Amino acid sequence: MTQKMQMSLEVNGEPHTLIVEPRATLADALREELGLTGTRTGCEEGVCGACTVLVDGEPVRACLQFAVQAHGREVTTVEGLRGGEMMAALKDALAENFAVQCGFCTAGFLMLAAGAFARDPDMDERAMTELVSANLCRCTGYQPIVKAMMEAQAAMRVPAE
Ligand code: FES
Ligand code: FES
Repeated sequence: MTQKMQMSLEVNGEPHTLIVEPRATLADALREELGLTGTRTGCEEGVCGACTVLVDGEPVRACLQFAVQAHGREVTTVEGLRGGEMMAALKDALAENFAVQCGFCTAGFLMLAAGAFARDPDMDERAMTELVSANLCRCTGYQPIVKAMMEAQAAMRVPAE
């Protein structure tokens, strides 16, 4: 029998201590141990990006990381964006551009945007297209997602009255 391991991490600003199998992925730990099912698992081999989360601000494929690799790190999942200005801007822009169809990929794109907007709030369309190409969407044809992200980025630049 494999011995489980204890690890500590911060998820969406909350500290957690987990006891996990050494081979458990970060995606499984988030979904099964913490109930954060907004992180989707699709291919589970690093291709689709549906499982994207931020670890110390950087987007990672949570299906490719062992949970224990996140020991001592700060993880942000799509649930952690709830209520924020960025989520509001993205939600409106995605809806207005019909950039969500089945929605399975959406959390992954939101996390890509969250990481990128924090690093570079002035991405041009080419950079945004490159960013979005990291993840797979079978439904939208990508252009609505790129347009929505450009609009969300622009909306976030407008100072609140
Ligand atoms: S589920 Fe992780 S990349 Fe597809
Ligand atoms: S909206 Fe269905 S996979 Fe992207």
